[in-house]
Amino acid sequence: MAEILVINKNLSLQEIYESLLRQLNSLINPDEPLISNLANITAALKDTFEKISWVGFYLLKNERLYLGPFQGKVACTVIETGQGVCGNSAARKETIIVNDVDQFPGHIACDSGSRSEIVIPLIKDKRILGVLDLDSYQLSAFNETDKYYLEILCKTLIQKLSFERIVL
Ligand code: SME
Repeated sequence: MAEILVINKNLSLQEIYESLLRQLNSLINPDEPLISNLANITAALKDTFEKISWVGFYLLKNERLYLGPFQGKVACTVIETGQGVCGNSAARKETIIVNDVDQFPGHIACDSGSRSEIVIPLIKDKRILGVLDLDSYQLSAFNETDKYYLEILCKTLIQKLSFERIVL
């Protein structure tokens, strides 16, 4: 992946995502290791959106989600499928938006400052490979526009990169 990302933060949320995805599309490199690509995706998201306090991947092995590349404070290293927002998203195979983490039973608080969250499952051939998790210190930071574009981003990652090759 190349190292330059240009984002005009004065654009609308939709336009920012369009610009970000266009650039990420040409920057994701299937010939480079999965972990290198995922690491730069988290950096690009954190760099683009000031509302993000933490962003990272959890990758599935033996029914457990293990912490992968991320940007932000240290976080829980293992989450059981079905637990927390991440584990629920993986179990249900659907994106979960949490406007107020205090209202989500079983939310796992890695950072007590976190107020809202969105988790997008990484699904290939109906199989869960992991999740992309974004947290914010603001309440209701993520909406249907975030969901729409983050799901496109995750689909692109699944199409372009080989998750099977990662060693956990
Ligand atoms: N809040 C998540 C745990 C991961 S951290 O936010 C980084 C959850 O409830 O699954």
